[in-house]
Amino acid sequence: MEADDKFLNMGILIVATLVVAKLISFLIMPRSKKRVPPVIKTWPVIGGLLRFMKGPIVMLREECPKLGNVFTLNLFNKKITFLIGPEVSAHFFKASESDLSQQEVYQFNVPTFGPGVVFDVDYSVRQEQFRFFTEALRVNKLKGYVDQMVTEAESDMLEENFLLLNIWTTSLNGGDSGVVDLKYELEHLIILTASRCLLGREVRDKLFDDVSALFHDLDNGMLPISVIFPYLPIPAHRRRDRARKKLSEIFVNIISSRKSAGKSENDMLQCFIESKYKDGRPTTEAEVTGLLIAALFAGQHTSSITSTWTGAYLLRHKEFLSAVVEEQKQLMQKHGSKVDHDILSEMDTLYRCIKEALRLHPPLIMLLRSSHTDFSVKTRDGKEYDIPKGHIVATSPAFANRLPYIYKDPDTYDPDRFRVGEGRRQGGRGFFIYFLRRNFELELVSPFPETDWNAMVVGVKGKVMVRYKRRQLSVD
Ligand code: HEM
Repeated sequence: MEADDKFLNMGILIVATLVVAKLISFLIMPRSKKRVPPVIKTWPVIGGLLRFMKGPIVMLREECPKLGNVFTLNLFNKKITFLIGPEVSAHFFKASESDLSQQEVYQFNVPTFGPGVVFDVDYSVRQEQFRFFTEALRVNKLKGYVDQMVTEAESDMLEENFLLLNIWTTSLNGGDSGVVDLKYELEHLIILTASRCLLGREVRDKLFDDVSALFHDLDNGMLPISVIFPYLPIPAHRRRDRARKKLSEIFVNIISSRKSAGKSENDMLQCFIESKYKDGRPTTEAEVTGLLIAALFAGQHTSSITSTWTGAYLLRHKEFLSAVVEEQKQLMQKHGSKVDHDILSEMDTLYRCIKEALRLHPPLIMLLRSSHTDFSVKTRDGKEYDIPKGHIVATSPAFANRLPYIYKDPDTYDPDRFRVGEGRRQGGRGFFIYFLRRNFELELVSPFPETDWNAMVVGVKGKVMVRYKRRQLSVD
């Protein structure tokens, strides 16, 4: 009996302790625990993955109306918190690397870019390497890249007085009219110009086919599965690793022959060779190769996709096409057929058309960071959430760029929305489209393209067939 009482008392004590502990924890629980973002309801374990695999945009379209602009997805042992819209995503873009870092979430790039660069190195080194990128893309360098193309075209006495146009016409099989896939042509054109301005004369003149094939293998080695398992022993990854090794050998040869000949060229390769860390250390050959590969990856698909969308929208919206052609006429009246970086920067109408295509179709649809400190956000309807450290934080330009409270008629292509309060100019990106407008009459003959959500860099689905007819734009 005594023993029974003892057990009863102990039971009561345990229950009482639990109740009191719960009560205390409820009363003194830090506010952050009470304000964690809502969580997407999914099946246990693989539910999050299934939702994610359907595509982040589909998920955001479904969840934002239900949960608001801040919510969390449980993906295996990770928590991904989405911050959608400028009110809550400001911290994402402004936070320091010690608060929100890229290194962990972009690790999957390491086998492609190679060791010792970008996401394989500490932030302090990466910051310096980003400075090398910035310096290689400064206006004085960009001016040089454009001028270099023009000079070369003139010295070769090309009929068209411009190298790129010649490439374009060559790629059009030399005819004066016909039907081509705009997407393919722009991809091809951009890899050619990138090889010239980024990778250098040696690659463009002698090694273009080899290097393109190797880049193709690198490209195909970056699959959605690679984001989660970058070293999975699959054929695509093996081809990627072989290609990376061969590219490295090619660039080490080029760099050492440039160095031993004391030759200097006006391209990004040269900028990286001459770049120096703050302590005076020069870049190694392996670093130069890695930085070049990273630059090509950052710029190639993003640029060709944006050019293709701009082309397709202009062909669908004749009013904006006429405005772009009119602008070309005015610039030709002012500068004749001369083209340089500054003249490209005067193409405001074209710039707005590109910016609007980019608003509707940003090629990088989801940006990620790893959170190292707790932080809070306040939504536009006044709700406050605390995001605990350890979460992966995500934002989606593709979704945020179509928020109806930010952009009127968000799904409509309307470059004039950027007439007021324009951002900084990026003349270089209008480069390819400007050629087409001056020198070709174009007509879209396939249906307006859809988005290819399955690609890592989200682009244009299928072909974009255009009928072209060569013309010399009259300035009268
Ligand atoms: C239409 C063309 C382009 C688009 C849409 C684009 C988009 C972006 C975006 C969204 C980021 C930020 C990623 C993040 O914060 O997680 C980024 C970073 C970067 N991009 Fe681009 N990009 C374009 C062209 C280029 C080109 C041509 C280059 C170089 C040749 C380049 C080099 C870089 C580099 C080095 C970074 C990292 C810089 C940093 O985070 O401070 N991009 N790009």
